[in-house]
Amino acid sequence: MMRTCYFLLFLLWACIFHEIHSSPSPKRTNMYLQAERIMGQSKDHGKALHRSKRGWMWNQFFLLEEYTGPDTQYVGKLHTDQDKGDGNLKYILTGDGAGSLFVIDENTGDIHAAKKLDREEKSLYILRAKAIDRKTGRQVEPESEFIIKIHDINDNEPKFTKDIYTASVPEKSVVGTSVIQVTATDADDANYGNSAKVVYSILQGQPYFSVDPETGVIKTALPDMSRENREQYQVVIQAKDMGGQMGGLSGTTTVNITLTDVNDNPPRFPQSTYQFSTLESAPLGTSLGRIKANDPDVGENAEIEYSIADSDGSDMFDIITDKDTQEGIITVKKQLDFEKKTLYTLKVEATNTHPDPRFFYMGSFKDAALVKVYVEDIDEPPVFSILSNLIEVDEDAKEGSIIGQVIAQDPDAAKNMIKYSLDRHTDLDRIFNIHSGNGSIFVSKTLDREAAPWHNLTVIATEMSNPKQSTQAPIFIRILDINDHAPEFAKYYETFVCENAKAGQITQQEL
Ligand SMILES: *[C@@H]1O[C@H](CO)[C@@H](O)[C@H](O)[C@H]1NC(C)=O
Ligand SMILES: *[C@@H]1O[C@H](CO)[C@@H](O)[C@H](O)[C@H]1NC(C)=O
Repeated sequence: MMRTCYFLLFLLWACIFHEIHSSPSPKRTNMYLQAERIMGQSKDHGKALHRSKRGWMWNQFFLLEEYTGPDTQYVGKLHTDQDKGDGNLKYILTGDGAGSLFVIDENTGDIHAAKKLDREEKSLYILRAKAIDRKTGRQVEPESEFIIKIHDINDNEPKFTKDIYTASVPEKSVVGTSVIQVTATDADDANYGNSAKVVYSILQGQPYFSVDPETGVIKTALPDMSRENREQYQVVIQAKDMGGQMGGLSGTTTVNITLTDVNDNPPRFPQSTYQFSTLESAPLGTSLGRIKANDPDVGENAEIEYSIADSDGSDMFDIITDKDTQEGIITVKKQLDFEKKTLYTLKVEATNTHPDPRFFYMGSFKDAALVKVYVEDIDEPPVFSILSNLIEVDEDAKEGSIIGQVIAQDPDAAKNMIKYSLDRHTDLDRIFNIHSGNGSIFVSKTLDREAAPWHNLTVIATEMSNPKQSTQAPIFIRILDINDHAPEFAKYYETFVCENAKAGQITQQEL
């Protein structure tokens, strides 16, 4: 038969009482629903309480976590109307934490929490209660389940997933560019109140950066931030629960943000004109000097390529780029000649090898400077101007006759006087002579082709004021045959001529 028996629930804590009664109705409904599921009853929301055929009246018990009051925390009371108050009934509690965390006064049905509870450790306890007759041991109430729910308090501050974040963003990024997202978690009950509702704010790093209060995404907040001005920023972000309201708990994190370089600076020559000088004799490839354009960017954004624009002397010089120092080295490309040109004015250009089209304003991605190269004279030896080294002479050329001439000049501006001479080693018999002033070559002895068909001489031209400056040139003298030989005798005749022999006298006759 239907007995009317029920458990009574007493919720003593004013604050809990208040919480429950001030909770929005969906929460209450949920609370009952949860209870119904456990009871295996219909899910007709709160009405189940009154429709219960089983007659058990029950509820969830609520308990504050982290209770530190003077006494043990009172949870509630089990009661059945079978209890006449004569001590004949005994209440028994089983399930999660029964006897250890939750103790019941078996006579009165009062339940206390014996220890401090932490919702973040365990938020819900399922227990079973029954009432038995002490004498007969008979169960006067069928066993039923109920739950004790641990009420959240805001005892956890938001914690960032990292103590220090590092991030980077290109300089000159548009305002609102995302840099990094920081996240803080709060161990409190996210489904209850605002204890776990985190709001982000920026404590340090304004006006350069901002943080989205809800997502924790850090963004750039200033336009035209330049790495060249400042590269490192330390941003401090706070996460505060209770929706950021007063009294919420908070945690902070540090975000080290580096601005990365973009190519927003063209190379710039610190001077508009450079001067170098070189001897006209400088071998091809000789380095005349280095010039350097400055570029405040870094890495490949500071890489420079130098070139010589089409200008006076652009065919005479080259410029190569020293990849290590980003300097331009000017070198000699063609043989220089002081006597032809003494000053070149080169237009040298410096261009970034990795320009960024975003920063091409006013064509300033390159720069130009003038490089003046002065060519210096050196004292050069005389230069022969001889069309042909070959001189042909008849065998019967008379002594003292001129057979040819050599001409040499000082190529220097000084135009020093030249004197000529013969290398005597090449004319040991002193058959020839040269006029020291005008280079005319004389025959000074009778020639004999049959004895020597060639006379290969070396002539020397020397600057009079500086004997060290001298030049040599070969002269090939070829003796041309003329018919000056009578048939030769097969033997040697000694001929004697009388001292008083008359002219026209035959001195020797074939016998
Ligand atoms: C060089 O000087 C000598 C002596 O004065 C003269 O005989 C000769 O003709 C000169 N040569 C020339 C090419 O003028
Ligand atoms: C002089 O030079 C000519 C032409 O090069 C050569 O044929 C001849 O053998 C040379 N003579 C001497 C003695 O060096």
